[in-house]
Order: sequence, then C-alpha cells, then structure tokens
Amino acid sequence: MPQLTCINPNEQAIDVSFEPGETILQATYRAGVDGILAECGGGCSCATCHVILNGNWDGTLEEPSVQEADMLSFAVDPTPYSRLACQVRLTDQHEGLTLAVAKRQY
Ligand code: FES
Repeated sequence: MPQLTCINPNEQAIDVSFEPGETILQATYRAGVDGILAECGGGCSCATCHVILNGNWDGTLEEPSVQEADMLSFAVDPTPYSRLACQVRLTDQHEGLTLAVAKRQY
C-alpha cells in the first residue's frame, strides 16, 4: 500500500497508508491524524480540511476545481500549495507525498 507523510499541527510526522482512489481526507482520517476538522464531511463547503502540500507534486494532481479554489479563499493563510484534503484524490503516483495540516482551520 503506498504511503504519504503528514505533518500534524504539533509538527509530528505521521506515515499514512492510502488506497489509490481515496482522498487525502479519507486516508488521514483513518490514520487518526490530528487537526483536520472536516466539518462538512468532505462536501467542499467548509475549508476546515486545509492541508499544504510540499510543492513537488505539480503535474500529478488535478488542478483545484472552481469550487475548491473558492473555498480555499476562506482558509486561514492559504499558500500556493494549499488544498482541501477532501478534494485531492490519491493515486500510485503520490507515494512519498508530504503534506502539512494547516495549523489553524479557522
Ligand atoms: S471537509 Fe469541508 S471542505 Fe473538505
């Protein structure tokens, strides 16, 4: 099973296994990663699943949809590598992906 590394708000690195096809939110939830609130349950309508990718994954991820980009504008201190964990679907290409949970979700 491929793995990614998730840095939680306490700066702890957590190895997260994922099934290709699931979202970052699904994988990190199953792994018990702290700090992702996901108040809308993955519906792209809350921006409390804000994560920041390490920036090296251009070309392997679909661009944010218009709805995701709109919601990211409500995230706290978004960066060019910010994404909503519920909207990023993982593939085998994402083995070794590193991301950080935003320190504040609102
Ligand atoms: S869980 Fe609400 S936008 Fe992702």
